[in-house]
Amino acid sequence: MTVLLIAAVFRGIVRLPSKGAALATPHISAEPGDFAEAILLPGDPLRAAYIAETFLENVRQVNDVRNMLGFTGSYKDMPVSVMGTGMGIPSASIYITELARDFGCTRLVRVGSCGGISQTLGLRDVVIATGACTDSATNRAKYGGWDFAATADFGLVSAFNDAASAAGIEARTGLVHSSDLFYNPATNALDLWDKMGVLAVEMEAAGLYAIASEFRARAVTVLTVSDHLRTAAETSAKERETTFDDMVRIALDGLVLDAA
Ligand code: HPA
Repeated sequence: MTVLLIAAVFRGIVRLPSKGAALATPHISAEPGDFAEAILLPGDPLRAAYIAETFLENVRQVNDVRNMLGFTGSYKDMPVSVMGTGMGIPSASIYITELARDFGCTRLVRVGSCGGISQTLGLRDVVIATGACTDSATNRAKYGGWDFAATADFGLVSAFNDAASAAGIEARTGLVHSSDLFYNPATNALDLWDKMGVLAVEMEAAGLYAIASEFRARAVTVLTVSDHLRTAAETSAKERETTFDDMVRIALDGLVLDAA
């Protein structure tokens, strides 16, 4: 990834951090109109650079604050942005709120990895998260202490499911658990989530869905199973790269289908 970043800097895709520029929002240095209405949101900003370089045309960098790289370009003539969010709901919420509230992003797509919980899920499977349970306090804090129903946009789920089928990939749809804890000491957590029909664990979807609803945007999360928490199986670095590329293609083609 570091090599990719250095190559991208030399090819002018990634700008090195600028100093002293006025910020449009506290965490994003872009101008109004710099982001497309559709945006892919990987956790890792270097993944954002990779997606921009690999899949988009006419790419320009639109954010570098805290190295949370953001880019805008086009895919099959559709304007699309991509920006990192960091890990976990608190970090992702900052960026997603500013993107939806201040930069006109109305289709928000998390692309990432997840840990498999259900035995019906295999390594490298693609999961479209129709809803997200959570142990995070953020949605309750927003919603007066009550439980917010963190659900994906139905139209985006449907388009992404169709895009996966068209690519010959059978996507799984269902619940994920968005955890604040990557290292969870609760030994009963996996059994409980499994019993309640949760397919996989990740760290951002529940926050994304609440913010999208708050700002009347549409959101979906598409994930690949990078490791299985029941079997301790893990994908290799090479497998992760290939499955990541397949998932990004599903997300981009899903956005095109959704706009048609
Ligand atoms: N926990 C949370 N997020 C994840 C995991 C996990 O085990 N694997 C991949 N993303």
